Amino acid sequence: MMKNFEIYKYKVVEKINFLTTEQREEILKKAGYNLFNISSKYITIDLLTDSGTNTISDLQLSMMMLFDESYAGSESFERFLQATKNFCNKKYIFPVHQGRAAEKILAEIFCKENYYVISNTHFDTGFAIYKYKNSIPINLPTDYALYDNEYPFKGNINLDRLEDILKRESNKVSHIVMTITNNALGGQPVDLDNLIQAYNICKKYNKVFVIDGCRIAENAILYKKIKNLKQSIKEIIHSYTNYCDIFYMSTKKDGIAHMGGFIATDDENLVSHIRKLTILFEGFPSYGGLSGKDMEIIAQGLKEVLDEDYLEERINQVSFLGKLLEEEGIPVVKPFGGHAVFVDAQKFIPSIPPDYLVGQSLVVELYRQGGIRTVEVGTLMYAKDAIRNLVRLAIPRRTYTYNHLVYVAEVFRKIKNSKESLKGFRIISADPLVPHFTSILEPIK
Ligand SMILES: Cc1ncc(COP(=O)(O)O)c(C=O)c1O
Repeated sequence: MMKNFEIYKYKVVEKINFLTTEQREEILKKAGYNLFNISSKYITIDLLTDSGTNTISDLQLSMMMLFDESYAGSESFERFLQATKNFCNKKYIFPVHQGRAAEKILAEIFCKENYYVISNTHFDTGFAIYKYKNSIPINLPTDYALYDNEYPFKGNINLDRLEDILKRESNKVSHIVMTITNNALGGQPVDLDNLIQAYNICKKYNKVFVIDGCRIAENAILYKKIKNLKQSIKEIIHSYTNYCDIFYMSTKKDGIAHMGGFIATDDENLVSHIRKLTILFEGFPSYGGLSGKDMEIIAQGLKEVLDEDYLEERINQVSFLGKLLEEEGIPVVKPFGGHAVFVDAQKFIPSIPPDYLVGQSLVVELYRQGGIRTVEVGTLMYAKDAIRNLVRLAIPRRTYTYNHLVYVAEVFRKIKNSKESLKGFRIISADPLVPHFTSILEPIK
């Protein structure tokens, strides 16, 4: 049964701020119409990201008080080790300060100039890091992911294209990264069969196979429901992680933490490389850029994320918001994924061409009219590599109530009635590697 109320009760609260439309208009101008430049005190509902914005539990807070900040061999690290091993079923674990630190270490080990890094879809940080290393990131989504349909595993990789590239240019491929769930294409799950087949193809060509599993618990609950399985979430996660050489995750997502990440492997040949680079870039391998307090929060978070009641509510919140938007006639990516609702901005506002940043226009309007912060996943984020022009409404874990989501849908209704007046934006300046984080924009008159 769908529970339309929260399975948590409040112990600590934070007041939400409300501004007028005129005040927000001024703030937008000062921020160069880039919502990353806006102070959180001017935001009413923050759906910018689900990364590190989680609400921690009473148990996480209690465990945090047991922190051991010893440089080497702390008790906090021991609890972190136990929880991460239990979560992903790998022997060797290296803590890092967040997901992109893992990506940087793996890029140092595997990337070579002009070599391909293939993925079902890279997310922004990995994509930028591989480009920075002069590698060529390649996305191989399936056709299902690009069009409107109810196919349940839109996170999958296109196996025919993967095999084709490896057959023709195996010597130009450095490694393969499966992003689970597939964030850039709608937080969509990856089917275990697809993962196993992709893994087997890569092994045929002797390629390193990596899982970016920062939302693998959300993938597991979606997979369990789609396939109507009896297995526990932990068993399902392990059935995925059994098929990779390296597993890494940003624990700012399914770690239900504020910071952190780790790299995991069973491959003894990789251990010394990863250990060395962790020491160089992150810190001694018993803390890897994390405080004992962070490691405690993560260790407890990785237990809580395996709780099915929690995961049920998590995906219920996403589909609750998705259905409200659908009822308003807003085009959304379906089926609903694990951490966010993705709005098809191009379909919603067809009068703005992609070159005029249709997604960002919607992002700006959501802030102007309702103080809602979201992020564009399209032409601004990926330039010519954009696959679709989407706006992501990421739901922080255990943070907002169903009523907050009703408010979001109401703001969409207001925009629907005035969207014909929107004209789009042009970029005045941006760093080409990370344009959405750094751009300054101006409205098209
Ligand atoms: C799929 C995916 N991989 C990697 C990252 C990078 O993680 P972090 O923000 O912790 O560096 C993110 C961040 O949003 C992500 O969504």
